[in-house]
This record gives sequence, C-alpha cells and structure tokens, in this order.
Amino acid sequence: MNKKRQFIENLINQMTIEEKIGQMVQYGKVNDEIKKKIRKGQVGSLLNVQGAKNINELQKLAVNESRLGIPLLIGDDVIHGYRTIFPIPLAESCSWDMELIQKSAYIAAKEAKSCGVNWIFAPMVDIARDPRWGRIAEGAGEDHFLGAEIAKARVKGFQTAEKDFPLVASCPKHYVGYGAVIGGRDYNNVDMSENYLKTYYLPPFKAAYDAGALTTMSSFNDLFSVPLTINKKVLRDILRNELNFKGLVVSDWESVEESIYHRVSQDRKEAALKGLLASCDIDMHSGVYDENLKQVIEKHPELEQLIDEAVYRILSVKYELGLFDNPYIDEELHKDIILHPHYRQHALEIAKKSIVLLENKHNILPLHDKNQVIALIGPYANDQENHLGCWSCKGDKDDVVSIYTALTTNLKHTKVLMETACDFTDHYNINIDKALEVAKQSDIVILALGEPRYYSGENNNRINLNLPGYQERLIDEISKLHKPTIALIASGRPLSLGNIKEKVDAIVWTWHLGLEAGNAIYAVLFGLTNPSGKLTVTFPKAVGQIPLYYNHKSTGRSHFPRYIDGDDIPLYPFGYGLSYSQYSYSNLTLVKDHITKHETLKFTIDVTNKGPYSGEEIVQVYFQDHFASVTLPVKQLCAFRKVFLEPQETKTLHFSVNPKQFGLYNENNEFVIEPGTFTLYVGTNSVDVLSTDFVISE
Ligand code: GLC
Repeated sequence: MNKKRQFIENLINQMTIEEKIGQMVQYGKVNDEIKKKIRKGQVGSLLNVQGAKNINELQKLAVNESRLGIPLLIGDDVIHGYRTIFPIPLAESCSWDMELIQKSAYIAAKEAKSCGVNWIFAPMVDIARDPRWGRIAEGAGEDHFLGAEIAKARVKGFQTAEKDFPLVASCPKHYVGYGAVIGGRDYNNVDMSENYLKTYYLPPFKAAYDAGALTTMSSFNDLFSVPLTINKKVLRDILRNELNFKGLVVSDWESVEESIYHRVSQDRKEAALKGLLASCDIDMHSGVYDENLKQVIEKHPELEQLIDEAVYRILSVKYELGLFDNPYIDEELHKDIILHPHYRQHALEIAKKSIVLLENKHNILPLHDKNQVIALIGPYANDQENHLGCWSCKGDKDDVVSIYTALTTNLKHTKVLMETACDFTDHYNINIDKALEVAKQSDIVILALGEPRYYSGENNNRINLNLPGYQERLIDEISKLHKPTIALIASGRPLSLGNIKEKVDAIVWTWHLGLEAGNAIYAVLFGLTNPSGKLTVTFPKAVGQIPLYYNHKSTGRSHFPRYIDGDDIPLYPFGYGLSYSQYSYSNLTLVKDHITKHETLKFTIDVTNKGPYSGEEIVQVYFQDHFASVTLPVKQLCAFRKVFLEPQETKTLHFSVNPKQFGLYNENNEFVIEPGTFTLYVGTNSVDVLSTDFVISE
C-alpha cells in the first residue's frame, strides 16, 4: 500500500462518525459557533475567509485544538486573478495563447496562496453558447476543443508545483452542462441528450481532470431530470466510473439543500442521503450534511462505507497539498507577492492579446501620435472599476489604468479631450451637447462604450444584447458629424450591435481587461501591438438567433431559410478577428490523404504576412466528417497554432492531428472512429478557410 493511502486510512480508522462527517462540511462564514465546530473537528473546509494571519488562526483551531488535528481547506473564487486582475476568462480565451493563460492562473494562485487560500474555485469550464447567460463571461466560449485546451492550461497554472506541492487545488466547475441553461436564465433547467453532453460539454471537464485537477464543483442545474448535486448517473457513473475522476466533489453553494426546491428531495434529511449516494463529498454552506448525515448513517449503517470513501477523497486533497506537513502560511509573504510589477506586466501582455479587432474600415487604425485632437467620449472614457469585470476577487478599482489615463500618459503630441456624456445604463441623463462640443473640436472620435461589469457574472442575464442606456443614441448623434470614429466596446459577453457597424469606422472589442485595460487599449490603438485576438464565441446579429454557434449539427433542411425576418448568419463568426496586417493561406498539403483510424493526419500550410506590420496570426484547423451513424457538427475545431510573422514573411506550418479528434459518440454513446470521407479546413477563422478531403479507413 502506498504511503498516502496508508497515512489516510490510518487516520480514518481513528475518526469518529462526527469527525468523518466534519470533513464533509464547509461553511462560508466564521462565527463563534463555527469556531467551536472547527475545534471539535466538525468542519473540514471554509470559504470567503480573508488574510494569512486570520487563516493561520483558524488552522490552529483545527490543527492544535481538535482531537486529530486535521488542517482545513480554504477556498476562494479566484476566477481571473486574486489582486492582480487579468482580463475576464472569456477575454483571455480570445488570445488562444495557452502559455499566457497558464501564467495568469499561476500568478493568481501565487497571490491567493500568499494570503492563505489553498483551494481555488476555478477554472470555470462550462461551454456556453447563449450570450444572454451572464456567466458566459467566466468561461472559454463555445468550443469544446479550445475549451479543453484552456481548461488544461488553467489547471496546470493553478496547481503549479512549488516546494514539492501544488500551490493550490483547482476546481473545474460547474460540473456539468450549466452553460446550457434554458433561455440563458441562470440556475434554470438543462435538457440534453447524453450524446450532446459527451460531444460538447464534457470534454473541457475531462481535459481538466486528465490534467490532474484535485477537486471539482457540481452545478446548480438538473440534468437528465435530476439535480446535479444529487445525480448518481452523472456523478458516480459518468464522473467517477467513466472519466475515472479520483478527486473530491464540492457542491456549488447550497445546492445540496436546493434539491428540496428542485422538488426532488422531500427534506434536508433526504437531501443529505441523496447527496451521499451520488458521491457529492462536501456540502458547501447549507449545513445539510452537518445536521443530518449522522442520522442517515444511524438508519443506514451500511452507508458508512460511502462516508469513508468521501472522507478519503477529501483527506487525499489535503495530503496532496502538503497541508499535513505544514498548513500555515508565512504572514509576511504576501508583501513580496501581491501586485508584483512582473504580475502587472503579465496583465498588460495578456490584455493586449485578448483584444479583438472587429472592424477597421479604410485602415483607420492604427493611429499615430501626432499633432491632432482626439475626443474620447463615453462612459468608459475614464472609468476604472468596470474594467475589473465580474468575479474580481480582491481587485481594487484604484489599481486599474483607465483609457484616458493611458492616452494622456503615453501620448506626447496628441491632445485628448474627454467627455463621459452618459452613464452605462441611465435612460435619462445624457449630455449630448457636451459630447458634440468636444467631438466638433476633434480630428478623431474614440467612443468608449460597453456594459458595466455587473451586467455579467452570476445571475446577471440579459434579454437584450444592445449597448445599455443611451449609448446607441450617443453613437447616432456623433455619427452625424461624419468624423473618423472608433468604437471601443467593453463587455462580458457578445452583443448584437444592430447597425453600429455602419455608423463607425472601427470596432475594437475590449471585453473587461483588468488592471492594465487602458494601457492595453492604448498599445493596440496606436499600433505598439498588432491585434491578434480571435472570437471564441459567436456574435449574433439579433437575440432571436440565439443559440447560434459555429459547430451546430446538420439538419435535413440546412439550405432552407431560417427565419421569415432574418437568417442564421452571425454578425461575427467563431474564430474571427482582424489584424493591422493581411495574412494569406496557401499550399494546404496532406502528407497522406488516406489514413487508417490508428494513424495521425499530417499536413502543412503556408501562411504569409502580406504586411504592413509584423504580427501574430492564429491559424485554425477544422474538419467535417461527411457521413456518420449519428448527426454531427458541420465543422469542428481540431487544432490551432499562433504564428509570428514579419511583413512579407511566409512560414510553412506542420500539423499532426491525432485520429481520436475525428471520433464521435454513436447512438449508444460509445466513443468510436467511423471510417469515411472527411474535409479538412484551415484558415483565419471558422468561415474563411482552405479545404481538402481525406479518407479514414479501418
Ligand atoms: C457561487 C457560484 C460558484 C462559486 C460558489 C462559491 O454561487 O455558482 O461559481 O464558486 O458559489 O462562491
């Protein structure tokens, strides 16, 4: 028996039933009653507790005062940075840069750990196709292949090993299907086939678990008509038996108790029983396990084995983190870690790479710093707080560089006039006259617009996808001046821009970029950075098109008109993003156009930077399986590569795609690779591609 198993089983053999149940109990507040429970070994983990000194005190209660001295797990929602706030995850995903994304997670873990946190409730890996859903901001967009790559990068970043132990435990969430809530209404029902689940929603979770994630969080929604947190089929059969996940499952907030409100548990006692049977190991904050599990075991003594299994998984995480060796944190450490200049530098780097250039008519961008007047107009002109985005942990708005500050600090010859003109959401107060006054004095207008940060994130869902408040009227009035106009749009989701495209000369999507927002936007506007971001979520023309995503399945009538009053063509497709340079693709060449299902598909593509600027291009590789035993996506991402090219430079890129990428779940939900003819697509987004066919045989 290995050392860990021996240590843990020996500990479990000493534990009373109360102490075992205690490990399965987590609270999100600390008061005298909770401290008393900690002293008695009846609380295994906490969340929402702050500060290294305070957390060390709580660890001492558990370690020095309880009978067995089992340390606490201390969890926190560190979604895109702890104090150094990075772009929201959806923005970071548009960088398609796994190295930078992993580094953001590493830095977040470093800062959080220095303040006593040893468990991070991230990455959020829910596939999301519905921009009405506020939590689309927290994930990596609509594609499961890219989502899996990003999930892997974030888990590795959070769980970076230092002094033989992972910095913190990661927690891929929200297992599973949460992004498919009906109507984009958070917490709503989810209804999908097992085939859909395994094709689109499970891959990022599987990738996160295969990357070594120590924990995972069950979601609020139901699936196959059973609330996830008490769902034996999805937790035991799929997560533990099929995906072979060995880590602990923590409920999302009070979702064990919420099985009562789903009307599937009669009462708290039944909720406790069903959570245990489903293998939800930790009950976050509801107290249901704390109050009822002992009676459950008294009534069903045979279930103590399930308690032991849950406790084993919990103690295993504590063991893997080294908490039994040392549960304490150096209380001075955070002074050298928090807001380290190198961390801010990284925040700037990834922010620049997360920006997506959507329109650039007659190459109005990049601008040049010269003797000119710029009118910076709109609610984001000098805003700091809203660049933090949702779930900004310990982020401080005073640490954020506004657009106005960045422009006025960095520009030497350009004069900047600034006017907010309107609020984000106010439908009454707009100062059009002031906006027009500064615009008339300018050579170029930069509109700084968008959603406030509280328009996205948990349960911040929308029925409209327009720019809130008076912002679209502001665009209308400014456009009547016929000045060169650039729209910067910050948001936590795709928006349907109506006919804004026709009224401005450039559209730069800035998402919520974190601390270095202003400097990143300045760098892109003035060409210090050639934008390279590519959308990881489809932008619809209208809310009525939702859900709209690139990897939809074929139908029997794909060529029929979709709506009387519209179509199913997006405003901007998955993978779309412009550069200040033009890139051309040529010579797509297969090494072999006929492979067996055990062979790697190899091919090359030439990519040329037609200039005029050096830059990075995200080369995307998709495929279509022409015929199969089940309906399949019309196109699927299966590889990508970021390549840096000088003007006029051509690089030949070599790709190898594992044949498993071409597999599918058949009507029995078994993963298979079916022989047949496939088309390979390579290009700058999911629409503008070169293609060639290949065959896979047995
Ligand atoms: C919230 C969120 C979840 C978060 C948890 C703890 O309701 O759904 O993402 O980790 O509760 O704050």
